[in-house]
Amino acid sequence: MDHPRQPRHFLSLADITAAEARALLQRATELKQLLRAGTPYAPLTNKVMGMIFEKASTRTRVSFEAGMAQFGGHAIFLSPRDTQLGRGEPIADSARVLSRMVDVVMIRTFAHQIVEEFAAHSRVPVINGLTDRLHPCQLLADMQTWFEHRGDIQGRTVVWIGDGNNMCLSYMEAARLFDFQLRVACPPGYEPDPGLLAAVADRCVLLRDPREAMAGADLVATDVWTSMGQEEEQKARERAFAGYIVDANLMALAHPEALFMHCLPAHRGEEVAVDVIDGPQSVVWDEAENRLHSQKALLEFLLVEPEP
Ligand code: CP
Ligand code: NVA
Repeated sequence: MDHPRQPRHFLSLADITAAEARALLQRATELKQLLRAGTPYAPLTNKVMGMIFEKASTRTRVSFEAGMAQFGGHAIFLSPRDTQLGRGEPIADSARVLSRMVDVVMIRTFAHQIVEEFAAHSRVPVINGLTDRLHPCQLLADMQTWFEHRGDIQGRTVVWIGDGNNMCLSYMEAARLFDFQLRVACPPGYEPDPGLLAAVADRCVLLRDPREAMAGADLVATDVWTSMGQEEEQKARERAFAGYIVDANLMALAHPEALFMHCLPAHRGEEVAVDVIDGPQSVVWDEAENRLHSQKALLEFLLVEPEP
């Protein structure tokens, strides 16, 4: 029997409700305070996470691994280089086997269908740690960071400058979940998925001119021009995105109290100027730290039964 129970997965922000998302962010901030106070809290004692990384990672790996350790559990790093996944063992078989041994699986991979297929054959919750299409864990951290600095984001204006990539698509899903307005400014040929754009048309507009997009913005976010797996397109992308650097001139067009976010790693002098990412409006270090706290809240949400 493959499916003795139906686990709850987190492959996209569409997998949680607006109420669950807000509760999760509040819990993330509580868990941050508990950790800072040095209060032990180990709800995942004896639980094990399998972490499959088909792409590089610093933040995602360390935040999940540290989070599991702080919760009293353990995380196993699995690379295709030294597992049978890298030698062609089917995704479905890997899911069936791993999910009989561990309590939760996190996957960072290329095609989004891989995490969907894994989840379809998994007995335990599967978390998307980034695919070519989406990076939902990053949005939990970004939203926690906004809530901690500025309160609720409902009705605010968020601007995405640059590539219509996995982060952009997750911002589009976040606009729907958290009810904010999103302006995406990207060059021709690098637009986000038209299907998702149509689905969130009431909250998201596509623009060409980053200056037009910035007027009155509350939050400005960007990301690398060349994502993992697109390395051979780098030169063409540098040309296409030349007018899309988030610099002080562009930030000056946003609301004076606008915040700047970047999921990191960043390329100073390409998608963001030094004085913006290292300047007073940037909250990128809080954003990176909140990967830890928001994912611990996610793990608790997926794995710990609420008290009756
Ligand atoms: N932002 C992010 O996901 O970072 P890593 O690639 O280092 O995990
Ligand atoms: N868009 C980037 C995000 C890295 C965290 C990538 O996919 O490489």
